[in-house]
Amino acid sequence: TDLDAFITGLPKAELHLHIEGSLEPDLMFALARRNGVAIPYASVDEVRAAYDFGNLQDFLDIYYAGADVLRTRADFRDLAAAYFDRAAADGVVHAEIMFDPQTHTARGIPFADVIEGLLDAMADAQARHGMTSALIMSFLRHLSEEEAFATLAQAQPWLDHIIAVGLDSSELGHPPEKFARVFAAAAEKGLKLVAHAGEEGPPDYVWQALDLLHVDRIDHGNRALEDGALIDRLAAEGMTLTVCPLSNLKLCVVGDLADHPIDGMLELGLKATVNSDDPAYFGGYVADNYRAIAAARGLNKDDLAALARNSFTGSFLPADAVAGHL
Ligand code: ADE
Ligand code: ZN
Repeated sequence: TDLDAFITGLPKAELHLHIEGSLEPDLMFALARRNGVAIPYASVDEVRAAYDFGNLQDFLDIYYAGADVLRTRADFRDLAAAYFDRAAADGVVHAEIMFDPQTHTARGIPFADVIEGLLDAMADAQARHGMTSALIMSFLRHLSEEEAFATLAQAQPWLDHIIAVGLDSSELGHPPEKFARVFAAAAEKGLKLVAHAGEEGPPDYVWQALDLLHVDRIDHGNRALEDGALIDRLAAEGMTLTVCPLSNLKLCVVGDLADHPIDGMLELGLKATVNSDDPAYFGGYVADNYRAIAAARGLNKDDLAALARNSFTGSFLPADAVAGHL
C-alpha cells in the first residue's frame, strides 16, 4: 500500500537493536552446522514454535541459548551483515547496535573476535549500503558490578569504536543503581550512556537511570507513563525513548498493539522512537514495527515522520549529520 511504501522510503535510524537478537533461525542452523554445535531444535519451524514468550525472562532464556552457535569472528560478521542488509532494505540509514560481550566471553569466546567481527560488518555496511553505524556495549544486569567493570576493562583497546554503554537482560531485581559506579567510569572514558528501564521494571528504575546512571537515552521506558512527575521530567529534558512495539507485544508488556502507548507518548511531548529490539525473535524488523504500530494505532504520515525524526535527533550522530538527515 501507499503507507507501506512511505514507511520503507522514510529515512530512519535504528537506536535499539540487540545484534544477538537478529539471529534468524536459518542462520542459527547454518552456524550450528559450521561450528559443530548441537541445538535443541530439529527444524526452523520448531524454532519458530518455541518463540512464544510469557515475559522477558522466557525470551532471554531462549535468546542466550540461541547465541551459543556464535563462535568465531566470521560468525559475528555474518550475523551483523545479515542485519545490516535487512535494515538497509527497510530504509535504515544509521544504526546504533547493542552487543552483549558477556554472553560470549562467558563461553570462552575472545572479546576481540566478537567486536572485530561486528566492526568488519559495519565497514561493509558503510561500503555496500552507505549506512553509518555505531556500537553500544551492553552490560548484563543479572551479572555483578564487578563483572561489568571487567568487561569495561576488556573493551579498553576498542573504546574508539564504541559509542556508548548500555544495560540489558533481566530487569526486575536488578535496578540501575547496581551499575552506578561502572556507568560513571564509562562516562569518564567519554562513552555515552543508555539503559533499559521501565520495560518490566517500575517507574523508580527509570528515575534511577536518570538520576544515578545519568543516561543519554532510555531504552523502552513504557512504565514511565505510570508516573506523572516522571513524564514531566522526561519531556522537559527531551529524553529519547527507544520504544519497541513488536517486542512489547511478544513479551506481554502490552496485551494488544491496539493498546500500545506510542502515540500517547508523542502527545505527552515525549521523544519516542520506533525500534525492533530483537527482530528475529519478535516477528519483524524496523519497518514491520512502524507498519504494525501505524495499523494498530491509526498513525498518519506526519506521526510516522515525527517518529523517524526523533530517531535522528535521539541518535549519537554529530549535530551536522543529524541536521543532514532532517
Ligand atoms: N536483551 C535483549 N533484548 C532485551 C530486552 N528487550 N530487554 C532486556 N534485555 C534484552
Ligand atoms: Zn532491548
